[in-house]
Amino acid sequence: MADLKMNVSCFFFIQVLLLLFLSSFAPTNAQGLKVGFYDKTCSKAEAIVKKSVSDAMKNDPTIGAPLLRMFFHDCFVRGCEGSVLLELNNKKDEKNAAPNLSLRGFEVIDNVKAAVEKECPGVVSCSDVLALVARDAVVALDGPSWGVETGRRDGRVTNINEARSNLPSPLNNITSLISQFDSKGLDKKDLAVLSGGHTVGQGHCPLILNRLYNFTGKGDSDPDLDTEYAATLRKRCKPTDTTTALEMDPGSFKTFDESYFKLVSQRRGFFQSDAALLNNQETKSYVLKQTKSYGSSFSKDFGVSMVKMGRIGVLTGKAGEVRKKCRMVN
Ligand code: HEM
Repeated sequence: MADLKMNVSCFFFIQVLLLLFLSSFAPTNAQGLKVGFYDKTCSKAEAIVKKSVSDAMKNDPTIGAPLLRMFFHDCFVRGCEGSVLLELNNKKDEKNAAPNLSLRGFEVIDNVKAAVEKECPGVVSCSDVLALVARDAVVALDGPSWGVETGRRDGRVTNINEARSNLPSPLNNITSLISQFDSKGLDKKDLAVLSGGHTVGQGHCPLILNRLYNFTGKGDSDPDLDTEYAATLRKRCKPTDTTTALEMDPGSFKTFDESYFKLVSQRRGFFQSDAALLNNQETKSYVLKQTKSYGSSFSKDFGVSMVKMGRIGVLTGKAGEVRKKCRMVN
């Protein structure tokens, strides 16, 4: 009898060990996100998102870049929980914070969400829609693909001041950029890699006028900006220009490639925050490595850092909700 008891408890002990061993291989990360979260509950979700993004980009080829930027702006404020999409009657929402006034593509997100809702009502969160759309936009711009972790749930709070204080400024120096990324669990390599997002899209003149006309208050230009490039930019951005948008990666701003790093290495980064990557040993060496045709790892690194960014402050399990419409809480 004692032997039998011993055998039974041994059997259970081995089972527990086996379970522990197997669970260490499960592809769910610590926060409960995993690639293919909707495989069973909404198997067509990812295909629907991809199709909607591709339709949107056929309609407006410049919309891919802002869709990528939107995910970054969501994740840096309260985490990747869709708060960038919420609207308040009093306009004190993230959308109305200065750095978000130039975000575009909210109607694309509405359309994607409506399409997935039609297939599986109440299943796919707006925050996951943002993560999937960002990846599909990069792919549609001829960039790399990666497995997007899903399983996020949506937050119920949006606050204009949080967007003002959490989104990095294009005027920031390398020390503040590093510490802002660090506060989100992202390291110097992530900063350099993700800044490469500026290989696509446009930036507005007012954000670089100081670099072109009055860097230290003496009518000078930014010494970190190549003089020839500064002259070209001055032709496009007159001192009082408040509206013109210029491609940040001239000649290649519709293609997601490593040309951004070549520009930065030539002191042709668009913003001070781009140029700043040359002012830290680690970020500088990453930039320079990407300019060598044999050394570029950007296309692989980008997906890795996007997945890492996509884990910031996520809500999973029973936290938050799956919004029916992305602009309002349920
Ligand atoms: C490192 C800190 C960053 C700063 C200071 C910054 C700042 C900016 C600014 C000021 C603009 C131009 C807005 C305008 O004038 O319309 C912009 C555009 C853009 N940013 Fe960033 N950004 C940063 C990081 C990122 C990251 C991490 C991503 C994505 C991975 C990203 C993706 C983009 C894209 C795609 C655009 C072009 C948007 C368009 O064409 O409308 N940025 N960024």
